[in-house]
Amino acid sequence: MTEFAIRQYHPSDLYMLYRICLETGADGDDATGTIDREILGHYFAAPYAVLDPALCFILTADGAPCGYILGTDDSVRFAERANEEWFPPLREKYPLRDRADESREAMMVRAIHKGYTTPPFVDRYPAHLHIDVLPVGQGQGQGPKLMERFLDAVRSRGAKGLHLGVSRGNTRATAWYPKLGFHTVVDSDTSLVYGIDL
Ligand SMILES: CC(C)(COP(=O)(O)OP(=O)(O)OC[C@H]1O[C@@H](n2cnc3c(N)ncnc32)[C@H](O)[C@@H]1OP(=O)(O)O)[C@@H](O)C(=O)NCCC(=O)NCCS
Repeated sequence: MTEFAIRQYHPSDLYMLYRICLETGADGDDATGTIDREILGHYFAAPYAVLDPALCFILTADGAPCGYILGTDDSVRFAERANEEWFPPLREKYPLRDRADESREAMMVRAIHKGYTTPPFVDRYPAHLHIDVLPVGQGQGQGPKLMERFLDAVRSRGAKGLHLGVSRGNTRATAWYPKLGFHTVVDSDTSLVYGIDL
């Protein structure tokens, strides 16, 4: 039987963050071969682990990383830091594409150039997170354990609430968050934002 454990992030996990992010990056399924191998990790995973490693937790299956939860207790401060410290060299590595290019990769390049922005509901939900588990760890109650660990960590830093965004196409995830007590904050054609009071 596979043995699962949750532990603190270590810098040697960084490569696996990129891999897990890519392999769950197509609305929860594997995006390998559809997009630059690193670009999703550059935006959705690595900066969190690099800028605030204490808020990054790793799920292991028989000792091998197979999932993560990461984020920030203060989205405003985090956006400022990432926009100053993380994105500038990536903007050189990924020049802006032609406006007519509507590929997901081109959209991610645009997101990198724009940087993180602060959503209007940040006063009530200042923290945010990303969670991704590879198929080996899915559907076995590990996601809720990762969530508990992360929410405890941001709560202990004093955050009053947390938000997260989900693509509407990720129907497994959109069904999952409400079961954990999240409620809808923003509902659009393409995505949902969920919130939880801490
Ligand atoms: C969404 C996610 C974090 C949930 O974590 P988890 O550990 O799978 O959570 P659970 O064990 O509570 O399972 C969630 C539900 O999905 C079902 N499920 C999840 N993965 C499954 C799989 N591969 N096969 C069948 N069912 C699955 C479970 O049966 C469960 O349903 P239930 O609540 O009705 O019992 C995780 O599945 C995941 O990382 N998915 C891929 C990446 C992703 O979508 N991330 C979220 C982006 S916003």
